[in-house]
Amino acid sequence: MIHCEPDMSSLERRVAVDAAQAAGALLKRELHGARRIAYKGTPTNLVTEMDARAEALIVGRLAAAFPDDGILAEEGGAAAGGSGRRWLIDPLDGTTNYAHGVPIFGVSVALEAAGRVELGVVFDPNLAELFVAERGRGATRNGERLAVSTAPALGESLLATGFPYNIRETADNNLKEYAAFSVRARAVRRMGSAVLYFAWLAAGRLDGYWELRLGPWDVAAGSLLIEEAGGRITNLTGGPLDLDAPAVVASNGRIHVALLAVLKEIRG
Ligand code: IPD
Ligand code: CA
Ligand code: CA
Repeated sequence: MIHCEPDMSSLERRVAVDAAQAAGALLKRELHGARRIAYKGTPTNLVTEMDARAEALIVGRLAAAFPDDGILAEEGGAAAGGSGRRWLIDPLDGTTNYAHGVPIFGVSVALEAAGRVELGVVFDPNLAELFVAERGRGATRNGERLAVSTAPALGESLLATGFPYNIRETADNNLKEYAAFSVRARAVRRMGSAVLYFAWLAAGRLDGYWELRLGPWDVAAGSLLIEEAGGRITNLTGGPLDLDAPAVVASNGRIHVALLAVLKEIRG
């Protein structure tokens, strides 16, 4: 791997990295403390007080540094800005894990300008891994340049997926797709953090990832990590990703067509 010094010339990058790391440290510190759990809409969609505390920390720092920028944060919603730029924040991705004390979760912060993600930061406080992508400048993990895997075929690939929170209510719940990929890929993992899947795919640990319904905050930073690490990210039929209502297929590029073909076979 090539070693690159992080480019700290960008104020945006510095503030986003500091905020993500501070939120991650807070989450890690409080992981085994008392957690008050509430439910968002369905009995499987949890939220803890730590989602709100981590978000307040990140939003506070971004709003102080860039008062003209808009913000879309998972728990607090959208605040418009006059700059044409927007920050997309998932303060705690992997809330179900967190609520059960499982140390698999991440923090995601992205900056979109003129409708395009320009900066993506994902922090995993448990493994002390900081993933950063800047458009046109590559993706890094703790300063090391990242590249997606070279797995050539679905049968040799490690995939990941997730299920929608309304899995009990909807027939479009990813179970058929999960079954199909399970017998075609080397294995399919389900660890419960979309933002870490993107980061791990960018790092070459996973070869592919799909999920039927995500939020913009789940996908924004990760999509740039994938692109800048040389991978491919599309919607479920191979079209461009819609950040406002993301359905995602992400891969090392080599197995992308095979992933899309399985989804077409199952979903029509
Ligand atoms: C969830 C996680 C999960 C994915 C869900 C997401 P949250 O985010 O990323 O892995 O399957 O679709 O909503 O609620 O933990 O921030
Ligand atoms: Ca999330
Ligand atoms: Ca979240």
